[in-house]
Amino acid sequence: MRGCREIRVGRPEAMVRAGSVVEPGSGNVPFAEQEESLARPRLGFLGVGWIGRNRLQAVAQSGLAEVVAIADPVAEMRGLAASVAPEAAQVRSLDELLRLELDGVVVATPSALHAEQSIAALEHGLAVFCQKPLARTAGEAARVVAAARAADRLLAVDLSYRHVAGMQRIRDLVGRGELGHVYALDLRFHNAYGPDQPWFRDPRQAGGGCLMDLGTHLVDLALWTLGFPAVTDAWGRLYSGGRLLVDVAAAVEDYAVAQIELEGGVSVRIACSWNLPAGRDAVIEAEFYGTGGGAALRNVNGSFYDFLAERYDGTRREVLSRPPDAWGGRAILEWTLRLATGRRGFDPEAERLVELAATLDRIYGRARGAAPAEER
Ligand SMILES: NC(=O)c1ccc[n+]([C@@H]2O[C@H](COP(=O)([O-])OP(=O)(O)OC[C@H]3O[C@@H](n4cnc5c(N)ncnc54)[C@H](O)[C@@H]3O)[C@@H](O)[C@H]2O)c1
Repeated sequence: MRGCREIRVGRPEAMVRAGSVVEPGSGNVPFAEQEESLARPRLGFLGVGWIGRNRLQAVAQSGLAEVVAIADPVAEMRGLAASVAPEAAQVRSLDELLRLELDGVVVATPSALHAEQSIAALEHGLAVFCQKPLARTAGEAARVVAAARAADRLLAVDLSYRHVAGMQRIRDLVGRGELGHVYALDLRFHNAYGPDQPWFRDPRQAGGGCLMDLGTHLVDLALWTLGFPAVTDAWGRLYSGGRLLVDVAAAVEDYAVAQIELEGGVSVRIACSWNLPAGRDAVIEAEFYGTGGGAALRNVNGSFYDFLAERYDGTRREVLSRPPDAWGGRAILEWTLRLATGRRGFDPEAERLVELAATLDRIYGRARGAAPAEER
C-alpha cells in the first residue's frame, strides 16, 4: 500500500477505540482480538457535508487511517471538516483529490454524483466507500461494481442500519432459523422533517425522493436479513405533496409504499416518507415474522439514533438490544479496517448492490437497464 505507516492494533488506545465499534455477539471478530500489524491507509474524503463530516470524524477518532485530504467545492464545508482533520489538505474536486497519493476515497456527495465519482476513483486504482445510494439505477450500480471488479478494489456502501446492534441480533436469529420460516416483513421509515438540503428534492441531483433516500435502507435490511433471496416481484406507489406522482423525472416522491415478493412467497411491505405528520421526529421500524416467532427493531421515542430490538413469542417479548449503541460509523470503520489489514481487493458481496438497486428500479416502475431520470 502506498506510503502507509505501520501501527499495531494492539496499541492500547487503538484497541479501545477500534474495539468499541464491534458489538459482542455481532458475529464479527472484535478488533482488539486481532493482533496483526496494520498499515494506516491514506484516505481522501469527497463531499464533507453533514454525513461526510460525520464519517470523517469516525475515521479520524479511530486512528485507523490517515486523512490525507478533504475535497468539497464549498469553502465553508472544507473549513468545518478541517476542524475535524486539521492535517488534511483541502481541495475542491475529485480531480484534485486523484492527484494525491491515496489508498481509498470516501464519497459523500449528492446522490446522483456517486456512481461516476466512484467509477473514476476505482479506475484510478483506489478503494471506494460510498454513501448510499451507490447509484440511481441498477444499470449505473452494475457499472460501478464492474469497475471495482476490473480494478480489483474494495467497494463498500454505507448501508449503516445493518450495523445497528439490534439488526445484527435479528439477522443472527433469522440466520439460525430461530424464527422458523420467515414469511412476512414490514418496514417503515418516516422522517417528519425531510432533508434540509435543496438538492435532495431535485430529481437530477438526487435520482429520487424518500424511496431513494430512506427506502434504500429498508429494502436493504429486508434482503440482507434474509440472505438476499431472489426478488420475484416488486411494485409501489409514489406520492408528492399528497398526490400520486407519475413523472419521476419532474419531481421526487415524499411518500412511498411498496410490496416486494421474494422467492418462496415471502412478503415484504415497505413505507417511507419525508415531512409526514408522524407525531414524532421519526418512525423507524423493521418487523420480521416467522412460523417460529417474530422480532422487531423500533426507534425509541421518535429518535433517529436509539433503537430497541425485541424477540416475540406469541404475546411475550424478550429484549435483544437497547440503547446506547453507537452504530453510525461502523460501516466505514469496517471498510477502513479491511484496507488497513491488506484486504483491499474486490469483494463479490458488492454484487448485492446491483440487486438492491434493481429492486428499487422495480418499485419506481423502471425497466431493467433504464437510464437515470435526466437522460429521459
Ligand atoms: N448512510 C446513511 O445513513 C446516510 C445518511 C445521510 C446521508 N447519506 C447520503 O450521503 C450523501 C450526502 O448527504 P448529506 O446529507 O451529507 O448532504 P450534504 O448536502 O450535507 O453534503 C453534500 C456535500 O457534497 C458537496 N459536493 C457537492 N458537489 C460536489 C462535488 N462535485 N465534489 C465534491 N463535493 C461535492 C457539497 O458541497 C456538500 O458539502 C447523500 O447521498 C445521502 O443520501 C447517507
